[in-house]
Amino acid sequence: MKYIFLEEIDSTNKYAKENINSIEDKTVIYTNKQTAGRGRLQRSWNYLGANNIYASIVLKPGKVMKENYSNLTQYLCVVMSELFEEYSLVPKIKWPNDIQINGKKISGILAEGVVRKNSLDGIVLGFGVNLNTSDNLLNMINQPATSLNIETGLEIDKEKFLNQLINKFFLLYDKFIEEGFLLIKDDYIRRAGFLNNIISVRVFDKEITGLAAGITDNGALRLIENNNEHILLVGDIL
Ligand code: BTN
Repeated sequence: MKYIFLEEIDSTNKYAKENINSIEDKTVIYTNKQTAGRGRLQRSWNYLGANNIYASIVLKPGKVMKENYSNLTQYLCVVMSELFEEYSLVPKIKWPNDIQINGKKISGILAEGVVRKNSLDGIVLGFGVNLNTSDNLLNMINQPATSLNIETGLEIDKEKFLNQLINKFFLLYDKFIEEGFLLIKDDYIRRAGFLNNIISVRVFDKEITGLAAGITDNGALRLIENNNEHILLVGDIL
């Protein structure tokens, strides 16, 4: 495992993708200042100051894309939730990979694959975690958001949190690559706050409302809409 620290960069994901061939497997890139952070579904990720995490893990599990790789965001979500629980918090996962505390988003994950000539050069698993912010800063965000210092009343040591998270991530990473979502299915479901509720999900430009009936063995959402079952692999709960 290796760390690359950049004082300032437009986006750690973009940097990792552009330099994928010279970056070793299991390298963590992180920055103090991210000026053009990207989120899922073409959104942006706000910069909330240097004491928060803006990082990307470069992974090179193999040249051929496997289904398990697309569940890496959910794996990171479970690992991160476990770490928040060490602070006596109760994180809830919002499918597929947001974490909320007391109904407010505290972190975001964006995975991007780099494929060239049918060969997978690497996976960039980017994540942002709000560690130290203020109500004023959080008001800039267009959805309810929180941070670890606000939830715990403690100032959070960024390097320490990042190290703990990365160590936890690599503890079962190789096993996860072998076994896939089933390895974490129970841990994911235990924290899935949306299950058994009526929810609306945006899938590309469509909106589906129905009962969140379950999570499949490969991490997809089972949504029941008027007796029709949708198995959703991508989407966003509204
Ligand atoms: C989301 O919730 O939409 C995902 C947000 C992911 C943000 C992180 S911050 C570090 C990395 N670099 C980026 O440009 N985005 C991810």
